[in-house]
Amino acid sequence: MLTETILVTGGAGFIGSNFVNAWVKLDLGKVINLDKLTYAGNMENLADISQHPNHIFIHADIGDRQAVQELLKTYRPRAVLNFAAESHVDRSIHGPDEFIQTNVVGTFNLLEEVRGYWQALPADEQAQFRFLHVSTDEVYGSLGAHDPAFKETNPYQPNSPYSASKAASDHLVRAYHHTYGLPTLTTNCSNNYGPYHFPEKLIPLVIHNALSGKPLPIYGNGSNIRDWLYVEDHCSAIRQVLATGAPGETYNIGGWNEKTNLDVVHTLCDILDQERPKAQGSYRDQITFVKDRPGHDLRYAIDASKVERELGWKPQETFETGIRKTVRWYLGNPEWVEHVTSGEYQHWLNKNYHERGEELA
Ligand code: NAD
Ligand code: DAU
Repeated sequence: MLTETILVTGGAGFIGSNFVNAWVKLDLGKVINLDKLTYAGNMENLADISQHPNHIFIHADIGDRQAVQELLKTYRPRAVLNFAAESHVDRSIHGPDEFIQTNVVGTFNLLEEVRGYWQALPADEQAQFRFLHVSTDEVYGSLGAHDPAFKETNPYQPNSPYSASKAASDHLVRAYHHTYGLPTLTTNCSNNYGPYHFPEKLIPLVIHNALSGKPLPIYGNGSNIRDWLYVEDHCSAIRQVLATGAPGETYNIGGWNEKTNLDVVHTLCDILDQERPKAQGSYRDQITFVKDRPGHDLRYAIDASKVERELGWKPQETFETGIRKTVRWYLGNPEWVEHVTSGEYQHWLNKNYHERGEELA
């Protein structure tokens, strides 16, 4: 018999840790959490469940076939959920190697071990098993201002080393279903935000810089559009896809919340003005326009009607409720922010923003 156990990769990162925390708190079974603990992986994200008997943390690389094989043999999970990835577009522009290594080669190695494990299962257990791959809307490329939102049938047109590496991993997952029959599920999600978001990404970076009195750097003129989804809604969508998604299918996940970057930053400044007013002026005064990201995609927008229609999933948060919760979380967790913004983080700020004419470190 397969256990009720799941194996999650990348569960110490932003979305993975939100997913693992929720899984344990909802009492859905045991979760084996495999994470390499790169700069983005943080055991503090898992502090609430560190002693919980249903959470087992394993420090390993998804590309370490021996380690993955051992885990599969030992715990006999009924599903493997792959969140592990290098995830930051700007870092992929500065150094794509790790993106190829983890997102492409790592996913390939993981798939190979999962295939071997799955093929050796008895037929009824094979039928229950799922490999769920967490991917991104960026694989579809960039939309014009009036184009319809991305559907699952849109062609892949990745534009950054990050999105190209995620696209490659999606293709491998697709091939493992088509060729070997591995029961895969792929989710392509829009921009997430919420607790434990690493402050290299726009929303947590702006909150952190605003409170530190630093410039709020907006690439280009701030008119690029992203489609924002509260991270807990993403996690509930993944649970729904895992439970009722059809093997071999892909599901787009989004919150129907398209915003320009300038709108997002204005909203953050306005909430901070209410929640933590400055002695003088507004946080908006700290906004500064900096050199654009090379190859910066203009617009992402997710058409989430398939997952809503076929699986009955809907997001709970609007952007307005989710963003206020997020700001409050950062205001309430200054130690977490302080710990993740020391060391390597300063080095990254120097590298990314110096060339844009800003000193943020
Ligand atoms: P993150 O960078 O915050 O976390 C990634 C985690 O993966 C970290 O804990 C890191 O230590 C781990 N990791 C990296 N390389 C690894 C390896 N070789 N082996 C094992 N663990 C490794 O990323 P995130 O924002 O939480 O994104 C999670 C997944 O969701 C990624 O696959 C990403 O492409 C996808 N996604 C993210 C967003 C978003 O807005 N953040 C949106 C859509 C899809
Ligand atoms: O769309 C899903 C993707 O969303 C995920 O696949 C990625 O893993 C995730 O990092 C995110 O990618 P983005 O590039 O959209 O996120 P980021 O927070 O880096 O940037 C959001 C927008 O804000 C983007 O248009 C670039 C802009 N930006 C970003 C930073 C860090 C700024 O204007 N200034 C900044 O300092």
